[in-house]
Amino acid sequence: MSLRSPFGRRRGGVLAIRSFRRLWIATSLSSLGDWLSLLALTTLAYALTGKHSAAAGGLAVGGVWITSLLPSLLLGPLAGALADRLDRRMTLVFFDVVRAVLYLSIPLNLVVGFANQLTWMYIAQFLASCASLFWAPAKDASVPNLVEPEQLEQANQLSLMTTYGTAPVAALLFTVLAAITAGLARFVPYFGNPVSGRVSLALYLDAATFVISAVTVYSLREIARRQASEPISVPSVARAIWEGWRFAGQSRVVRGITVGMVGAFAAGGVVVGIGYGYIYTTLGGGPAGWGVVFAAIFVGLAAGMSFGLRVLGGFSRRRLFGLSIAIAAVPLALIALIPNLAVVAILVVVLGACAGIAYVTGYTIIGGEVDDETRGRTFAFLQSAIKVVMFAVIAVAPVLAAGFSAAIGAAVGSGSGAVHVGAISYGSVGYNIVVLLGAVVAMVLGLISYRLMDDRPGVPLIPDLLGALRGRPLPGPGAAAAGPSADGQHPPRGLLLAFEGGEGAGKSTQARLLAIWLRENGYDVLATHEPGATKVGMRLRALLLDTAHTGLSPWAEVLMYAADRAEHVTAVIRPALARGTIVVTDRYLDSSLAYQGAGRQLPLEEIREVNERATGGLVPDLTFLLDLPPAAGLNRRARSADRLEAEPQEFHDRVRAGFLRLASADPDRYLVLDAARDPGEISREIQAAVRERLPDPVPEQAEEITGTMPVIRE
Ligand code: TMP
Repeated sequence: MSLRSPFGRRRGGVLAIRSFRRLWIATSLSSLGDWLSLLALTTLAYALTGKHSAAAGGLAVGGVWITSLLPSLLLGPLAGALADRLDRRMTLVFFDVVRAVLYLSIPLNLVVGFANQLTWMYIAQFLASCASLFWAPAKDASVPNLVEPEQLEQANQLSLMTTYGTAPVAALLFTVLAAITAGLARFVPYFGNPVSGRVSLALYLDAATFVISAVTVYSLREIARRQASEPISVPSVARAIWEGWRFAGQSRVVRGITVGMVGAFAAGGVVVGIGYGYIYTTLGGGPAGWGVVFAAIFVGLAAGMSFGLRVLGGFSRRRLFGLSIAIAAVPLALIALIPNLAVVAILVVVLGACAGIAYVTGYTIIGGEVDDETRGRTFAFLQSAIKVVMFAVIAVAPVLAAGFSAAIGAAVGSGSGAVHVGAISYGSVGYNIVVLLGAVVAMVLGLISYRLMDDRPGVPLIPDLLGALRGRPLPGPGAAAAGPSADGQHPPRGLLLAFEGGEGAGKSTQARLLAIWLRENGYDVLATHEPGATKVGMRLRALLLDTAHTGLSPWAEVLMYAADRAEHVTAVIRPALARGTIVVTDRYLDSSLAYQGAGRQLPLEEIREVNERATGGLVPDLTFLLDLPPAAGLNRRARSADRLEAEPQEFHDRVRAGFLRLASADPDRYLVLDAARDPGEISREIQAAVRERLPDPVPEQAEEITGTMPVIRE
């Protein structure tokens, strides 16, 4: 059986293409170089200034982050537009070389002294970040020249992984280099220098990564000069924010996501802005400590992203998003209160995990619930808003910390802002206060986001969470009203299996085959369908599909399908589930999301809300999506077209894309099947998937051992 998730398909696929592999190696090296430079320069900034005061050190470190981010705020649109006009291969090579030279110039200046050390470091970092900004769109635009169109998504995912995946590698490398430097210092006095010696190894290696990347790309003749048909347009930050808010800000979900993201990135900005200073002054960790904590963030992020949803599979995504941000406040506050490097490193992993969970849930929610029309703008809006928030917080946090340290230092009579509480001593208490403030912001905004997006009002949070952890989520709100289960409080015991897909995909055939197979295996099965499985439903079906009603208002359509569904769930599905029956339905809720949402282009979220009431939150245990190009499906039809089938091809294309998006947003709950294949083959794949979910598993050879069939109920 293969669950066809767009994330899991043929991972090695694109890397088998030699030219793409080379570009990918170059990209990885460049990204590694970018991260390494951030680590080296933050360390250097502190080494150059921290001897005067911790506050000055903190500010200098903030300056590194600002010079790194400022170019993307100022020059983002320009870089995209320019990359479109230049020879891509030479752009990549040129900006790699530029970055190599700039990073070499920093340690060189420390020795030769051609400019003020700190000033030159900022100038070089600013210019190198500008170079990265021009480099990235040229790289992105080159990818389509190297891979097949259907591999593009995979290639992009791989690129994204490299951009962030190299961060922990850089952090570990930096830690190792710090240790090597310490060893070398015994033999070579240069490396013993507390300023220039400390980071030069990292900066030399940094320059080397860019040189190797340049050489690798230079040999890639396949990268075309440019692709005139595909201009890259990057909206300015201000415009993306304004337009995005105007289009997407109306929706409660987007507002919830925005508030949550601002909270998360404000807290993240605090960590980034003052992390080094805090580690240095209060935790007593040098560059190696900084490397460890930096790596810990990414270890946490990766863990949160990959395990978070698996562990909390049944929990509402919308609840999880705000909750993970609010919960992140706890490790953050503890980081402020417990000044111990080892403890902080562990807490940072937890913090990263919360951020990772928030990231994937936020992404999934936008992917699945924001409709096609506004999704691009929503992403652009969020990315721009995040940049501005991060930038502001990184700039302000060190200033605030210095201010608090100075004020409290003056009050208690310690110049540096050192405060002792019992046995614990806070080297520069302003840092702790600012981290605590970050925690408060995360908590408050996380909770607001939770309130805005909560899709299970009235369902208590803690039991809901514990239920999800045990793999038995509580029924949704209104479940009781829509038809209680047998004993009125336990979730239904049966299984709900849904078949979805476009016209003529073979859903009904497969639903029938599955019902027959299950019955043969001794299960109590109810085969049903939408619309029209109840008396009222049959009338609604006739109204809905009659071509005489062409031009029916889209919302009337949504509500009529929802009315049919409410009746279906209450009168047919829930009572059957409560009896322990396996319900196989030909179409369910997702048809409304795909046909009325994607097809009629109505907001998904609102359709979901209406259907939430209709179904009382009842979601299938597994949905089979029979995927087929619409033209093929409509040709299979023997009779004349009904009202929906008569819609134009574009409508059906949107429906198909809508279904596929729903499936990719929740791969655990869907099995996407290529409906062009032999029905027998498809049916076997479906049986294999169902077998895994049956309360009493059907042995693979069940067909042969008749008489010993598992039976749920007599
Ligand atoms: P059927 O032909 O598979 O029985 O489905 C009837 C039509 O109704 C089909 O064209 C899909 C459409 N439909 C919706 O548009 N929204 C819905 O919610 C459902 C259940 C079906």
